[in-house]
Amino acid sequence: MSGAGGAASADVSVRGLAVELGGREILHGIDLDLRPGLVHGVIGPNGCGKTTLVRALCGAVPVRGRVLLGGEPVARMSSRRRGRAVAVVWQNAQAGPDVRVADMVGYGRYAHQNWFSTRDAGGRAAVDTALGRTGLTPLADRRIGTLSGGERQRVRLAAALAQEPRVLLLDEPTTHLDIAHQLEILDLVRELNAERGLTVVMVLHDLTHAARYCDNTVLMTDGRVRATGAPSEALSTEAIERIFEVDAWVGTDPASGQPVVAPRSRRAGSA
Ligand SMILES: Nc1ncnc2c1ncn2[C@@H]1O[C@H](COP(=O)(O)OP(=O)(O)OP(=O)(O)O)[C@@H](O)[C@H]1O
Ligand SMILES: [Mg+2]
Repeated sequence: MSGAGGAASADVSVRGLAVELGGREILHGIDLDLRPGLVHGVIGPNGCGKTTLVRALCGAVPVRGRVLLGGEPVARMSSRRRGRAVAVVWQNAQAGPDVRVADMVGYGRYAHQNWFSTRDAGGRAAVDTALGRTGLTPLADRRIGTLSGGERQRVRLAAALAQEPRVLLLDEPTTHLDIAHQLEILDLVRELNAERGLTVVMVLHDLTHAARYCDNTVLMTDGRVRATGAPSEALSTEAIERIFEVDAWVGTDPASGQPVVAPRSRRAGSA
């Protein structure tokens, strides 16, 4: 299913994507075109294949079918070329607790380093910019093991930014964060998208966040993309019922004019 533009104008283009893991097909024949410079949200129930899709988009898992980044098959890119094309913020990526924040962010530069030098010319500047942009400059010398969950998530994002990719993938970037830090990360992602023209693909569970922060939504169930489109159309009460089998109220926050999605429990006695 195509959404938000055709293949010719897509930064991420997927045709007939199937992924098999542990002897079972997890993704079944996905077609997808994701337009450059937009924030795309991947939504769907636990186990439907969102993380597997992210892995397929960055070439981290063997696939059938085609995954193109900027028109180029990701499977044929060298790891350095791939590292310039796409960066990933994984949900639970762990770094050694003794690694310094600045060094961790510097690892994001691997795709820009060459055989003769471990520090590329723009590397220091890119690391400093990434630290500054994520508010981590004061923590640059701290060890990862001493950081809070929210600070660690900002380090993961900073490392991805230092990589200077065209496409940024994020798998549930707000998990384990309190609501203020969730908004902080999502605002930051949105700002980076605007400033750098980054194409963002992020897996989200919170439907209100998806409605507010994404330009396009990709709705998945059972290893298939069921619908794509602007959140105002894709995240309807009917679609949420179909995808998650829950009732939901979809409305507008009168104070901000922003969309709100409020799921309702179906249990007897619940509102
Ligand atoms: N390495 C693997 N071997 C076998 N099965 C796997 C493997 N990785 C994932 N799966 C299975 O593939 C399915 C999709 O997993 P995936 O992690 O992509 O789901 P998800 O949509 O990201 O779920 P969640 O919302 O819980 O993160 C699940 O049934 C999972 O058990
Ligand atoms: Mg997942």
